[in-house]
Amino acid sequence: MFDEEYGADESLIVGTKTEYDAEENVLRPKTMADYVGQQKAKENLAVYIAAAKARGEALDHVLLYGPPGLGKTTLSHIIANELGVAIKLTSGPAIERSGDLAAILTNLNEGDVLFIDEIHRLNRSVEEILYSAMEDYALDIIVGKGPSARNIRFALKKFTLIGATTRVGMLAAPLRDRFGIINRLEMYTPNELKQIVTRSAKALDIAIDDEGAAEIARRSRGTPRIANRLLKRVRDFSVVKGNAAITREDARFALARLEIDELGLDETDRNLLRALIEKFGGGPTGLETLAATINEDANTIEDVYEPYLLQLGFIARTPRGRICLKDGYAHMGCEPSMKARRQMSMFEEN
Ligand SMILES: Nc1ncnc2c1ncn2[C@@H]1O[C@H](COP(=O)(O)OP(=O)(O)OP(=O)(O)O)[C@@H](O)[C@H]1O
Ligand SMILES: [Mg+2]
Repeated sequence: MFDEEYGADESLIVGTKTEYDAEENVLRPKTMADYVGQQKAKENLAVYIAAAKARGEALDHVLLYGPPGLGKTTLSHIIANELGVAIKLTSGPAIERSGDLAAILTNLNEGDVLFIDEIHRLNRSVEEILYSAMEDYALDIIVGKGPSARNIRFALKKFTLIGATTRVGMLAAPLRDRFGIINRLEMYTPNELKQIVTRSAKALDIAIDDEGAAEIARRSRGTPRIANRLLKRVRDFSVVKGNAAITREDARFALARLEIDELGLDETDRNLLRALIEKFGGGPTGLETLAATINEDANTIEDVYEPYLLQLGFIARTPRGRICLKDGYAHMGCEPSMKARRQMSMFEEN
């Protein structure tokens, strides 16, 4: 029900959404204390969790959003852990009919966490069942058809819904408004990622020195999942080293072979920037056009590639499409034309 893949290709950046190997389980932090970064979200949640426990009530519903691989699923497990309750996992596309959701809801125990991944992909009729479930802990079901149809209400145990999404903008307002706690997960700093790499290396019994870990961290696009993935690939390149710790040079060598550049950009990022610059004179270019040009899926570009390029200030989203900014040109070693410069300054004024 939960093993929906994000993309089955072997790209280091996209990879697969859920990697169910044993290593993945070892790498996933189990407590708030082990969960690096996201200070604001952690502090808020700690307060709400303590308060809910003190009152002996279910925690208010939680919405976690942000780009893939930043730790939404991980944090949800930790919340359930800290509350000392069970967590049931499902995802928006996995719940096809409202009856499926009704069955899941009636099986929850008092205080349990229901985690719905990709909650923006719930279909409409399923979503409507959630409204009264979240608000009144009740299940409204219509029995019969036509004039004899009746509305029957069942009481549910008090539970906590944790919704996760990479696309908060696609959530219907009535659903979004029913979450009492809304947290946006931020990209991680190189320093935080270095802590994650160091911790993961220890868990996987990989020897790596400080600078080696820092090098991987710098190229991980602010994303723990990518940091862990790069660590494993760098290890593969370093097996011949025996027990000697992975150094900065080893990391640089391996990452160059993987065509991950100094900033963590891969071939697709560079194709995207190149197309924007060379084919479209810096934009503005619509997402679909850009996707077709570089032969990538538009959703993947929007969810996986763009957040980091936006964060770097290499591109911008304008009402008329994507444009390449000064730093994007510089990274690709290109000079913006007069027209492209005008485009950028118009964007900056707004
Ligand atoms: N704060 C963190 N500290 C340490 N490791 C982390 C942290 N956040 C995530 N990770 C690591 O990164 C991996 C990916 O995190 P997770 O699966 O929770 O991301 P996600 O936000 O749910 O992604 P998606 O949107 O693709 O579902 C985890 O398996 C975990 O090992
Ligand atoms: Mg997840």
